Amino acid sequence: MKILITAGPTREYIDPVRFISNPSTGKMGYLIAEECISQGYEVVIISGPTHLKIPSGVRCINVETAEEMKEAVLKIFPDVDVLIMSAAVSDWKPAVRANKKLKRKKAWSLKLLPNPDILKEVAKIKRKGQTVIGFALETTDIVKNAGRKLKEKNLDLIIADTPEFFGEGKASRVVFIHRDGRVEEFKGIKKEEVARKIIDFLPIFKV
Ligand code: CTP
Repeated sequence: MKILITAGPTREYIDPVRFISNPSTGKMGYLIAEECISQGYEVVIISGPTHLKIPSGVRCINVETAEEMKEAVLKIFPDVDVLIMSAAVSDWKPAVRANKKLKRKKAWSLKLLPNPDILKEVAKIKRKGQTVIGFALETTDIVKNAGRKLKEKNLDLIIADTPEFFGEGKASRVVFIHRDGRVEEFKGIKKEEVARKIIDFLPIFKV
């Protein structure tokens, strides 16, 4: 099986030295990649900026912005069996990216424009037999909101988590919502275990 994994945050630049981003470390995606390699799968990671070491045997494509990530995903997706979209993609980007460093000034407003929803673009070209797995970061109504995303983005599985899941090795409440409506809830689960559970489900999707 050929697996494409996105990981890490995106950066949306205001000027050459300032950007909007989020605290994603990329750890979830990199752990999934390690598990996939140990199963003998072929793995490509499309990664936003992280401090992590690329797991041995993985091909890595580095990107910074959501637009760059979208381009890379749409190029590689047609050739893979599975896409696991664990990246924390910024939903907005500054309307203007200044060429020169902005000088200090009094209060000002930054206009933001929406970024493309990469998974919605993927849904338009998804073929029968391809599996797409998403994540959902929620602060309220976890199951309801993640279930809606699963449908809107035409996913096979969505893994819902809370902000505690961001960062290094913390355990938190994680909910797996399947396309057939099955809901599995895990309390105090770590990223390593989530990665293993995702791998366990892959062959089921292939049937
Ligand atoms: N995602 C994406 N493109 C975006 C934003 C998110 O493909 N521009 C993907 C994420 O990688 C994740 C899933 O969509 O797999 C859900 O991301 P999340 O941030 O939880 O939800 P959003 O769709 O951005 O909705 P909201 O921020 O309103 O909750």
